[in-house]
Amino acid sequence: MDMLEWIKSRRSTRKFKDMPVEKELLEQVIEAGRFAPSGGNNQTTHFLVIQDKEVLDDLAGLVKQEFAAMEETPGLYQSLVNSIRLSKTGNYIFHYNAPVLIVVANQKDYGNNIADCSCALENMMLMANAHDLGSCWINQLKWLNENPVLLKYMRELGLHGEERVYGALALGYPDTKDGLPQRNPLARVGNEVTYI
Ligand SMILES: Cc1cc2nc3c(=O)[nH]c(=O)nc-3n(C[C@H](O)[C@H](O)[C@H](O)COP(=O)(O)O)c2cc1C
Repeated sequence: MDMLEWIKSRRSTRKFKDMPVEKELLEQVIEAGRFAPSGGNNQTTHFLVIQDKEVLDDLAGLVKQEFAAMEETPGLYQSLVNSIRLSKTGNYIFHYNAPVLIVVANQKDYGNNIADCSCALENMMLMANAHDLGSCWINQLKWLNENPVLLKYMRELGLHGEERVYGALALGYPDTKDGLPQRNPLARVGNEVTYI
């Protein structure tokens, strides 16, 4: 595939096989993230690569617990509303039981924190696609990035004092019939282009 095809065929995977990702492939995905551009070549993005099942389960439990304690308010972002509702039913696993969750963090007071993390995340998603791995951007840890319970737990895992989470990537082998990621591009109905 040429580059545009790789980009267009990157789709979100939300069902994963219970199978670890080979070290070599995982390292390439992370390398792709590390080689993303950063504002002023800042290079302060921090990748916390979680493969420990116990840690993944702990995180899922804490996220569910904290969302379940939240109330819906008018105008709340719909995906957040969904997370709150599902958590209250007790049936919510924000990382879809992927075997790998790459949490992407950056300096809290750095103006390009989200932008740098986003570049890294997209690079990693494209690299995952090129290796027939499935991936999905996971935002719940960003929504909870000032939540004291999650912040404490993330710090125990290695998040530094002034860092906050701005995104995460669920990664693994897609649980599809042929084992390959679903690749049919979604139509673009938005994303306006104005040529001047
Ligand atoms: C900033 C951002 C946040 C997202 N957060 C989540 C998320 O928390 N959970 C999820 O399942 N998908 C999440 N997604 C994936 C989008 O839902 C997905 O990219 C979109 O529906 C288009 O589908 P596609 O990725 O298959 O092309 C996120 C994507 C972006 C760019």
